[in-house]
Amino acid sequence: MVPDESSIQYDAKEGGQFTKHPTARIHVLPSFGKASNRGDLRSQEGTTAESTIYSGVIIRPFAMVYAEAIVHSDTFIGDQAIVRELTSVGKNCIIGAGSIIENNCFIGDRVRIMTRVYICAFSIIGDDCFIGPGVLTTNDRYLGSGDPERRRRERRGPTLEPGVRLGAGVVTLPGVTIASGVVIGAGGIVTKSIMTPGVYVEYGARLDRLRDEV
Ligand SMILES: CC(C)(COP(=O)(O)OP(=O)(O)OC[C@H]1O[C@@H](n2cnc3c(N)ncnc32)[C@H](O)[C@@H]1OP(=O)(O)O)[C@@H](O)C(=O)NCCC(=O)NCCS
Repeated sequence: MVPDESSIQYDAKEGGQFTKHPTARIHVLPSFGKASNRGDLRSQEGTTAESTIYSGVIIRPFAMVYAEAIVHSDTFIGDQAIVRELTSVGKNCIIGAGSIIENNCFIGDRVRIMTRVYICAFSIIGDDCFIGPGVLTTNDRYLGSGDPERRRRERRGPTLEPGVRLGAGVVTLPGVTIASGVVIGAGGIVTKSIMTPGVYVEYGARLDRLRDEV
C-alpha cells in the first residue's frame, strides 16, 4: 500500500508549503500497526501512520523518512540517508548522504551529521552537535547475545549534550554521556561518559579481559 501525496503533512502554523519536484515520486512508507515502545511496527490491521515533514525540508534522492518520524523545518536529508520511525530531527539540521538515524532518536536543532554516520536507536543528540563522517554509535552491550528481552530493556544509545563535536570515525559504546564542550578527535573510542570539557583523543586497542562472554 502506498498512500498518495495527501498523506504528507506540512506545518500550516509556520505557513509552510510542501513542494514536490516534478520528477519526484512520493512514497509515504506505511506502518502496519501502532508502534510499540521499542519502536517496532507491529502488524495490526486497519492502522496506518504518517511521517511529518515541516516546511523547507529538502529530501535528496533515495533518502527515506519512515512513518512516524518527524523532520522539522529547513533540515536537509542527503542522498540515501534514512530516518526511521519515532525519531525526531530538529530544525536546520544536516543529515549527510548515506547516514542512518535509527528509531526512537532525538536529534536537536542545527545538528550537523556528516556522510555515512550510524546513529543507533535511543540516541539523544543535543542542539548544535557536529558528528564527523563515519561515526558509529552503539546501544547493545551484549553484542546481540543472551536474553533478547534483557538486551532490549538495557539498550542505551549515547547522550550528546549540546555542542559536542565528534571527529571522523569516532565510536561510542552503549549508554555513554558526553558533556557540552567536549571534542573527540578522529578515530577516538568513547568507552565511558566524559563530563569534563576538553579535546580527547583515544586510540589503539588494549587487552581488556581474557574471556569469551561480555
Ligand atoms: C583531535 C584534534 C582536534 C586535535 O587537533 P590539533 O590540536 O590541531 O592537534 P595536532 O594536529 O597539533 O596534534 C597534536 C598531537 O595529537 C596527536 N593527534 C591528533 N589528532 C589525533 C587523533 N585524532 N587521535 C590520536 N592522536 C591525535 C598528533 O599526532 C599529535 O601528536 P604528537 O604531539 O605526538 O606529534 C584533531 O587532530 C582531530 O582529530 N580532528 C578531527 C578532524 C575531523 O574528524 N573532522 C571531521 C570533518 S572532516
